[in-house]
Amino acid sequence: REVFLAGAKGIAPPFSIEPTKLEISAKQKLTGAAFSYVAATAGAGWTERANREAFYHWRIIPRALTDTCCRDLTVCLFGHHIPAPIIFAPIGLNKVYQCCGGETIPAKIAGELGLPYVMSTAASCTIENVAAANDFGAAVKNESNSIWRGPSGTHGNPKAPRFFQLYMSHDDEVTLSLLNRAWASGYDVLMFTVDAWQTGWASEAIDNGSYPFYEGDGNDVGSSDSVFIKKYGDLKTDHTKWVDRHVYHGKAHIWEKVRWLVWQWRHITGGRPVVLKGILSAHDALKALEYGCDGIVVSNHGGRQIDGETASLDVLPEIVEAVKGRMTILFDSGIRTGADVFKAVALGADAVLVGRPWVYGMAHGGERGVRHVMKSLLADLDITMTLAGYKSLKLDVTASSLRWHPTGS
Ligand code: FNR
Repeated sequence: REVFLAGAKGIAPPFSIEPTKLEISAKQKLTGAAFSYVAATAGAGWTERANREAFYHWRIIPRALTDTCCRDLTVCLFGHHIPAPIIFAPIGLNKVYQCCGGETIPAKIAGELGLPYVMSTAASCTIENVAAANDFGAAVKNESNSIWRGPSGTHGNPKAPRFFQLYMSHDDEVTLSLLNRAWASGYDVLMFTVDAWQTGWASEAIDNGSYPFYEGDGNDVGSSDSVFIKKYGDLKTDHTKWVDRHVYHGKAHIWEKVRWLVWQWRHITGGRPVVLKGILSAHDALKALEYGCDGIVVSNHGGRQIDGETASLDVLPEIVEAVKGRMTILFDSGIRTGADVFKAVALGADAVLVGRPWVYGMAHGGERGVRHVMKSLLADLDITMTLAGYKSLKLDVTASSLRWHPTGS
């Protein structure tokens, strides 16, 4: 409504959020190396393309003449009511795109919109500063009338669940130090990423000399950790120590380690949830359940890790079918529009994570850009619901709201 009314007064939006145009305009704003890092895909980029194509095959079946005056986009996630099933995906090294604010920028906007924020282990700000920014955004949300409050004036808890994404070190003391710091700063869901022991073979970014991209950019999660500093030294001059040895260390963990992690997080937090990010088969989803996890993220890391692996959306239905409601199922890789969110929810996702789009927004003037991208996505989802004749995302949007069409049709 804000966008339409502004348009009627001749005020154009600050930049286009149409996916292709957004990427092109962000490219003009960022340095070549920074853009190559965000846009990076594994190999020839087939998986990233497959992520988008998978959405194309699912078509929405609208319901005519339904009363959709009051829509309900809210969902309940790990005990919190949130205004829409949209989460800020963990993205590291944000100072590359916005040197001053880094991760505090998206964390603040997530707080303002009442949406969950996932803090990355590879972040360029500290766990504590990002939590404070997220709190600040939530406080702004409570005071201001100008922020997005949900289509029918509904809004969730002032504080959405705050996730800490873990790249698990092989040094348990370092891992435990991070977990304790995260809990002390109010992160109540742990998201353990299992598909990125090392960065993928991102040909274009490698050719541009920007991948992996860590020398000199600061990784404040590691460089601010007292246990890490005591054992491995101050990182001021050598960030590769943290990233190489403790983030992308090239050595996979095994399932038994998940049991250990779940036990530790529950012990520290008094039983808060653990989610595995990077699950792409029913087999692994059931393993996550067996090893005590509370949820998974069906994700291929935005097509950045293994070229030629399955699109996330293509395996979502079989994973949902296997899990049978026993765990929370989150989804990412390729979400760009409101219709995409609708489709992922229809196929059984409890909520979706959005990655590159808000980074591209951040390239357009920091807070303002992130806010524009995420509010536009929320509006797009709301309009999709209205026009398609669906009142409640939670109750009405199901697999029967979609039909699959083969290639070429
Ligand atoms: C990521 N992603 C990611 N994932 C994670 O668990 N920890 C991290 O630190 C990062 N860092 C990161 C940096 C950049 C630049 C990108 C683009 C992605 C993956 C991210 O959380 C998510 O899975 C994908 O971005 C989702 O795909 P889309 O929405 O970008 O298509």
